[in-house]
Amino acid sequence: MAHYRQVGEVPQKRHTQFRRPDGRLYSEELMGEEGFSSDSSLLYHRGVPSSLVDARPWELPDQATTPNSPLLPRHLKLHDLFPGEEHKAADPVTGRRLVLGNADVRISYAMSSLASPLYRNATGDECVFVERGTATVETVFGALDVGSGDYVVLPRATTHRWLPTGDEPLRTYAIEASSHIAPPRRYLSRYGQFLEHAPYCERDLRTPAEPLLAEGADVEVYVKHRGDGPGGFAGTVHVVPEHPFDVVGWDGCLYPYAFDVADFEPITGRVHQPPPVHQVFEGQNFVICNFVPRKVDYHPLAVPVPYYHSNVDSDEIMFYVDGDYEARKGSGIGKGSITVHPGGHSHGPQPAAVEASLGAERFDELAVMVDTFRPLALGEGGRAVDDGRYAWSWSGRGPSTTAS
Ligand SMILES: [Fe+2]
Repeated sequence: MAHYRQVGEVPQKRHTQFRRPDGRLYSEELMGEEGFSSDSSLLYHRGVPSSLVDARPWELPDQATTPNSPLLPRHLKLHDLFPGEEHKAADPVTGRRLVLGNADVRISYAMSSLASPLYRNATGDECVFVERGTATVETVFGALDVGSGDYVVLPRATTHRWLPTGDEPLRTYAIEASSHIAPPRRYLSRYGQFLEHAPYCERDLRTPAEPLLAEGADVEVYVKHRGDGPGGFAGTVHVVPEHPFDVVGWDGCLYPYAFDVADFEPITGRVHQPPPVHQVFEGQNFVICNFVPRKVDYHPLAVPVPYYHSNVDSDEIMFYVDGDYEARKGSGIGKGSITVHPGGHSHGPQPAAVEASLGAERFDELAVMVDTFRPLALGEGGRAVDDGRYAWSWSGRGPSTTAS
């Protein structure tokens, strides 16, 4: 983010002496991206951020994937991943079930009620969409209170933890990048300010408002990092002598933030607008778009649902969050569903949905889409909740009814 923020106390001049009330120096830490050549922040710690007293391996949730073979469009029912009371024993980090992934991005899902351990993803930025429930996300930069419809963007290697709040289980859809996640470049001026045509702007982003200080000794931090396990990942638990939430102040352009999808202002037209108007974020080799409640195409002969499309360079993943998704009527898709539309297959509305959409003035759907340039493979969670029938929903018949 190019938007400068300051929270808590920082010295007037960077890299100068900054002392605690007892006269000792605070530890200044620069947290920055792209080899000191992109956004960064300076954090002032009471302790020494390098200090370790122990380490041990952490076995990550299953990161293995299998190819989408035979190549098929698929319907994955995420709510089936956490039946009954399973969420009561799950947290929003270690409880994640990997649904889909490739070398650029992993999508996982969790329904949880427990607080996560302190966590640091050193493999890339995370964008966690809150489907339902509320939580406090405590970070080394301060806390964010989040709820249904919030994207929570956590820069790579941000130490944080998730604390579900309220009576309802927390449902989170985690998009983990191997890169950074940011607003689309075309929404920004050459210096990084949101332009007038962007569907959201700086005022819509919520950032930590004050330092978050905690006490503790020999505190565990679960670190996901590059390694030789499935997907190229491994985990380590670092034990640090003092609580890592010891930052009395920070400033800069790198920090976690939340964005409520309800603050995304949809762009509409007389005829169908292409998916890039729905884009909210981008990472290396993937984009995140959202389809929000909106007026639809108002040409007198408009067809409001999409045309069939062969987006030849992409796999397209749609997560249906709320409302009725008009283009998928008749396919069995409901809230909590994902559709996987892979490159090499032309997809579009279920046939009856086209006529049914004519004359519509509004769509009250809410969906989050991830398009990737590299093919997505199925994680264990995705394989577990594949409905096995979606591919045949356009024709109305599948292999068991094929004439020989
Ligand atoms: Fe599509």
